[in-house]
Amino acid sequence: MKNKITSLTISTISILFLLIQINCSPKMTKDEQIARGKYLVNIGGCNDCHSPKIMTSMGPVPDTTRLLSGQSSDLRLPPIDTSMIAGGKWILTTGDLNAWVGPWGISFAANLTPDSSTGIGLWTPDVFIKAMRQGKHMGSGRDILPPMPWQAIAGLTDKDLDCVFAYLQSIPAISNRVPSPIPPNMIVQMSKKK
Ligand code: HEC
Repeated sequence: MKNKITSLTISTISILFLLIQINCSPKMTKDEQIARGKYLVNIGGCNDCHSPKIMTSMGPVPDTTRLLSGQSSDLRLPPIDTSMIAGGKWILTTGDLNAWVGPWGISFAANLTPDSSTGIGLWTPDVFIKAMRQGKHMGSGRDILPPMPWQAIAGLTDKDLDCVFAYLQSIPAISNRVPSPIPPNMIVQMSKKK
């Protein structure tokens, strides 16, 4: 009888332990984090704006040799007709969707590779999560400009944002210094130069 009670207690404890494990899902390994991060980055459309493109008959596709390295530093913007971007008219973008012109000026998609001087190699997961949640450069600087959809990305759980960051840190580092944003009044000056 005593033995029966002991084995019953042991199996109850094992079942409880199993349930706790299922509910709290055990910590992911680095590889699992990277795989989930890759999945989130791909469906999250990060390549649309952050990867340079190759033009194909089906339209622009990400250049897999420079994935997520942002607006190329050898920037050559086509002429901008400022009458096109006056209030209520158009927002402009380059063919690779890396540079965007609108009422906020000109924004350039950031280098998300782990290069330590031109990418996000020196960021921590905390800095990344703060930037995505608060829409501030590196979590505490200037406002992050449109069309970076940080408001949508902010909806990911901390765990998923950690996975996205782990994936970004795992891709090849590419040295590419993305130009600083150009304020609205400078767009006019740029256009006058031509
Ligand atoms: C519609 C275009 C677009 C999409 C889609 C997009 N981004 Fe961005 N992203 C930008 C632009 C433009 C900037 C630069 C904004 C600036 O300079 O203020 C930027 C900046 C960033 C930055 C730098 C923030 C900082 O602190 O300066 C990070 C990190 C980032 N994006 C991550 C992502 C991730 C991760 C995804 C996908 C889940 C993504 N972006 C999708 C356009 C986009």
